[in-house]
Amino acid sequence: MMDMAPPESLPMHEAHPLALVTGASSGIGTEIALELARRGFDLILSGRDAERLTAVADQVLATGGAAEIQIVDLEAPGGIEALVTQVGSRELEILVNNAGFGLSGPLERESPERLAAMVHLNVTALTLLTRAFLPAMVARGHGRILNVASTGAFQPCPGMAAYGATKAYVLSFSEAVAEELAGTGVFVTALCPGPTRTRFAERAAMVGSFLFRDAMAADAVARSGVQALLAGRRLRVTGWRNRLMAFAIRFSPRGMTARLAKAMMLKRN
Ligand SMILES: NC(=O)c1ccc[n+]([C@@H]2O[C@H](COP(=O)([O-])OP(=O)(O)OC[C@H]3O[C@@H](n4cnc5c(N)ncnc54)[C@H](OP(=O)(O)O)[C@@H]3O)[C@@H](O)[C@H]2O)c1
Repeated sequence: MMDMAPPESLPMHEAHPLALVTGASSGIGTEIALELARRGFDLILSGRDAERLTAVADQVLATGGAAEIQIVDLEAPGGIEALVTQVGSRELEILVNNAGFGLSGPLERESPERLAAMVHLNVTALTLLTRAFLPAMVARGHGRILNVASTGAFQPCPGMAAYGATKAYVLSFSEAVAEELAGTGVFVTALCPGPTRTRFAERAAMVGSFLFRDAMAADAVARSGVQALLAGRRLRVTGWRNRLMAFAIRFSPRGMTARLAKAMMLKRN
């Protein structure tokens, strides 16, 4: 954990529903937070980069909403528990599990520490934050959870084997919990973006990859995800090309989709 100092907080509006967004300091998370603010939610913005989070909080304020920043490293021991403690007994209407990163390259060359950190963030943090905030939502009879997966969830991802597997977990987990919650008033949505223009490609060492040639804008991805979340949809694949691909994969042999995904991964712009 980077900072256990008291949170920089601003007074929340009593009447506004509250949303927590992880990974709100950048990319899709920032845009989801701003979209929720425009729709009348107050925000708890979580991430590691205080400067960026403060800039996003200022943007939320400009929409008339309120925002609090929580600086938490969800990869670090105790990070998940710290975020749960910082939210405390406040009533969360929406939880957005967005924080995540990818690693690309052959598995045997990847550092075990970075692999473990990625699985911890993409899988463990998402699972335990869902587990932590779900009981209060079920007891109240309303609440919504948006889990950010990826189109990488639909097929094996050679060249990003472990990352793709974390996103397959997110999709499977989200759809299963959504079904467990049927009739409770609580909804879970899995958002599956394809390549999107954020800091993701740079962090995953994929700048110049063919996959990102026609990447979508993060605000369009966020708008689509928030619409699906508020409509209680279980799955949203962003962009017609990604939807077509996700549909076609259902009818394609696994081996073939793995070979195709490998060819796409290796292709450069
Ligand atoms: N961009 C794409 O092409 C794409 C496609 C499909 C799915 N996704 C998924 O979309 C989600 C958002 O990614 P993005 O594309 O918006 O990338 P991004 O711009 O790199 O944003 C990632 C966010 O995750 C946060 N984060 C990373 N490590 C963290 C940690 N240890 N503790 C707390 N927060 C952490 C970052 O916050 P700090 O920097 O402040 O730590 C940042 O706010 C991820 O789950 C990603 O897998 C992305």
